[in-house]
Amino acid sequence: MNTSNSGRVAQILTELHQEAEAADGPFFQKMIADLEVSGTTIAQAAAQLIADERGNYPAVYGRHSEHFLSVSPSYGHFLYAMARACKATRIVEFGTSMGISTIYLAAALRDNGGGQLIGSELEPTKAVKARGHIAAAGLGDLVEIRQGDALQTLRDVGGEVDLALIDGAWSLYLPVLKLIEPCLRPGAVILAENAFAEDYLEYVRDPLNGYIAQTLPIDEGRGNEFAVRIL
Ligand SMILES: C[S@@+](CC[C@H](N)C(=O)[O-])C[C@H]1O[C@@H](n2cnc3c(N)ncnc32)[C@H](O)[C@@H]1O
Repeated sequence: MNTSNSGRVAQILTELHQEAEAADGPFFQKMIADLEVSGTTIAQAAAQLIADERGNYPAVYGRHSEHFLSVSPSYGHFLYAMARACKATRIVEFGTSMGISTIYLAAALRDNGGGQLIGSELEPTKAVKARGHIAAAGLGDLVEIRQGDALQTLRDVGGEVDLALIDGAWSLYLPVLKLIEPCLRPGAVILAENAFAEDYLEYVRDPLNGYIAQTLPIDEGRGNEFAVRIL
């Protein structure tokens, strides 16, 4: 059984990916064109974005309230597969946006026999839309979206975590990881999309901190970092 690629869930995901392309495509195309004109590399642009964002992320993400900024379909299927592989029943997500990644992960919870996903989203309008999309996919019983700053809303995730998706403000990857770290079970998987923050990468790649980590060859250039909690 693969709930992510059948019935209502597959239909909603197809529609949401189409909406994401329409909403975000022009923005990303302009960004890439600007980088080419200025000769800026993705690494340089990411470093600048993280520097600009530090301490200012509510304003930065407030400007993206209509953008999905979502995972790709291939990464979404990877999320589903990872959650199935580690038999996840408790998942935490930093950065829900419109709920696309959440739907892939919640579909895995359904096929794992049930569980709970705690999501976090700063933008109130996105949290409302995400809840609607998740409900339309028939997965609302598995998901709690906490609206607000994840540094507050993920303080108490209520128990052991099998899998975490880190996909919010880039400057907060390490603070959010440290926040949920005490709850990560041995063998927990931490997937970070757009992991460009040096402090995060140095931390998960240092075995002394209790992780094994490497960059995934999925959507290359998007900084998809994979880590496993080892204790
Ligand atoms: C890249 S998008 C997430 C995409 C989503 N995971 C998906 O694939 O559909 C990042 C989201 O994180 C949210 N965000 C940024 N900082 C946050 C914070 N401190 N707490 C909660 N959400 C935050 C933004 O508003 C934005 O919607």
